[in-house]
Amino acid sequence: MSTSTLEPTLAHSTMKQTPIEIKNVTVIGAGTMGNGICHVFANHGYNVSMMDVSQDAMNRAMSTIAKNMDRQIAKQMMTEAEKEAALGRIATYTEMSEALKDADLVVEAATENIDLKMKIFESIDAHAPEKCILATNTSSISITRISSHTRRMGKVIGMHFMNPVPVMKLVEIINGYATDKETTNAVIELSKAIGKVPCVVNDYPGFISNRILLPMINEAILSLQEGVAGVEEIDTIMKLGMAHPMGPLQLADFIGLDTCYSIMNVLHMGFGNQKYAPATLLANMVQAGFLGVKSGEGFYKHVPGNKELIVSDRFATKQWNG
Ligand SMILES: NC(=O)c1ccc[n+]([C@@H]2O[C@H](COP(=O)([O-])OP(=O)(O)OC[C@H]3O[C@@H](n4cnc5c(N)ncnc54)[C@H](O)[C@@H]3O)[C@@H](O)[C@H]2O)c1
Repeated sequence: MSTSTLEPTLAHSTMKQTPIEIKNVTVIGAGTMGNGICHVFANHGYNVSMMDVSQDAMNRAMSTIAKNMDRQIAKQMMTEAEKEAALGRIATYTEMSEALKDADLVVEAATENIDLKMKIFESIDAHAPEKCILATNTSSISITRISSHTRRMGKVIGMHFMNPVPVMKLVEIINGYATDKETTNAVIELSKAIGKVPCVVNDYPGFISNRILLPMINEAILSLQEGVAGVEEIDTIMKLGMAHPMGPLQLADFIGLDTCYSIMNVLHMGFGNQKYAPATLLANMVQAGFLGVKSGEGFYKHVPGNKELIVSDRFATKQWNG
């Protein structure tokens, strides 16, 4: 059911024409990534249909979008009137068939679970207009495998946004084995039209971003596990020595240790190479529920409202300092 006004298509000044015309974007899943994706499309003049399983989830998403737009207003990146217009372009739905009625593009950003995504894509394929492009924001699941659950493999593509979506410039575009050129070109042009920088890669485990990032994080965890250095030392070396804005262990806490573990497992299984085996310490922390920011503790302690970096007591002892 729609809870906010869907305005007539008002072309925003930054909206560009693409060979396949995209005006109406449906985003499935209104969590961390879904609300950011809706925010960016609405900001750039697209009609956005946001769909999640409950109205509560969408109310939370709309309030997050409004708060993030307020930050942009404070930084003079948008005006109050532009915020109201952008929010007015987002309609919310709990029924997939309604949310997809006029979609030119779907971006699926639901929970990272392979069985769930297969079911969602079967349903999207059944309800979306024939010409509609089906994109997924998956971090690690094969685009080709997802596309095999549709009758339009050529129109299925990876559109991997980075977190936080309104801030991060990159969209990693992943061509499945059967993705057609027209679809890739449309998604490249669309990414540019929403102010992002597209990079096209092929469909191999972890694509490029996570194939390179996650083994680095895993290596940092292995170094900690072996007592080569402590949490602070590992992160300081990578920040000050390699000019990374944040150390790999802090980043792992932000991504979520369960997500890191699951992506390492995808790489390990996908390549069948021992070099991708997740660190035992990572597995133990996940099994014990120490997941980083989302659970309040990982390599660091995370107290809401406190941005200070406090190493978890478990790693603050001498034994972790070699
Ligand atoms: N969080 C990140 O940093 C990040 C970065 C890049 C890509 N991703 C990918 O983006 C996707 C979403 O991740 P997230 O972090 O936003 O997760 P999240 O848990 O914050 O949100 C997922 C949302 O999907 C909804 N959902 C579950 N089943 C659904 C269904 N059947 N229909 C509609 N909605 C449904 C949930 O209710 C929830 O609101 C995943 O594929 C993830 O791998 C995440």
